[in-house]
Amino acid sequence: MNVTEIITKLTETQTAERGELIFLLQHITDDECELLRRTAQETARQHFGSHIYIRGLIEISSYCKNDCFYCGIRRSNRNAVRYRLSEEEILSCCDSGYALGFRTFVLQGGEDNRFTDEMLCRLICTVKSRYPDCAVTLSLGERSFESLQKLRDAGADRYLLRHETADKQHYEKLHPGEMSFDNRICTLRRLREIGYQTGAGFMVGSPYQTPENLADDLLFIKDLQPQMCGIGPFVPHRDTVFCDAPPGGLQLTLTLLSVVRLMHPRILLPATTALGTIDPRGRELGILHGANVVMPNLSPVQHRKDYALYDNKICTGEEAAECLQCLRLRMRAIGYEIVTDRGDYTEG
Ligand code: 5AD
Ligand code: FES
Repeated sequence: MNVTEIITKLTETQTAERGELIFLLQHITDDECELLRRTAQETARQHFGSHIYIRGLIEISSYCKNDCFYCGIRRSNRNAVRYRLSEEEILSCCDSGYALGFRTFVLQGGEDNRFTDEMLCRLICTVKSRYPDCAVTLSLGERSFESLQKLRDAGADRYLLRHETADKQHYEKLHPGEMSFDNRICTLRRLREIGYQTGAGFMVGSPYQTPENLADDLLFIKDLQPQMCGIGPFVPHRDTVFCDAPPGGLQLTLTLLSVVRLMHPRILLPATTALGTIDPRGRELGILHGANVVMPNLSPVQHRKDYALYDNKICTGEEAAECLQCLRLRMRAIGYEIVTDRGDYTEG
């Protein structure tokens, strides 16, 4: 099969063989990229029209007990400035977010034991009772199954946990020996069983990544069937093991967004901040390649620069309202409209 035939197969059957995915990633031409892009954008349009969902991202802690080789807030980064938001600060981010039209709050942070189940459950309950029409999404790394169950019982609706790479050997090149690929995958499956709307995802262009790895990422998503998938380029951070590694490619990231859209027509697919960081039009291009979600930052401005997973992260100086307005205009300029909606996953 040639690349055009593989794109047709993806469009018609929502899947392809591993070998076909690898072939596509290695041989796609500029013209075929444009065909893929148009098809993926059309697919997203069929399901979401011109609507773009927003998620208010609240970065609750820059403390992390893990030491991922690529991440700027890894515990061994002595230069990282650590902060932790109080419950009051988090609630005040939600208050301003709600007024701006956010109906999903994403509480994201490093793996920080100080955020106990008790505290998080109380926080989730408060947010859900104050804003019953909002979804609460957690993005707090690997927690015990009991903990994830408690947080779900407290009212959390969704959980984001990128698998990072579906290949165990590759995972081990990106993480220290104490971190377990098997536990990551197990946790993701458990999240689904517990009843979270679950988000998996991976970085594009992370060190040692091969086209085979990316094909396996796509097939892993096919198998797990998450409701969301976060895909962004790897971006080096100066204080990490991979400080000198090149960033992930723009076109490759866009190609993966499009392929995921074709394989999962209704999946919630963000145009990520990392994509906006490697290219000034990255997020717009993400939408034009089939993404349908953006995640503006609702964190207090004084802490934004300290939640630095990678260098040169955008939007660290802007207030939430400014970012939202900026994104509104950007989306409008390409024919899309940010909506006030929870933006839940809906079954076909
Ligand atoms: N470049 C791009 N993305 C990164 N992440 C962490 N570090 C980097 C980096 N250097 C991503 C991971 C994680 C998410 C919260 O941020 O995929 O799951
Ligand atoms: Fe934050 Fe443009 S989206 S400044």
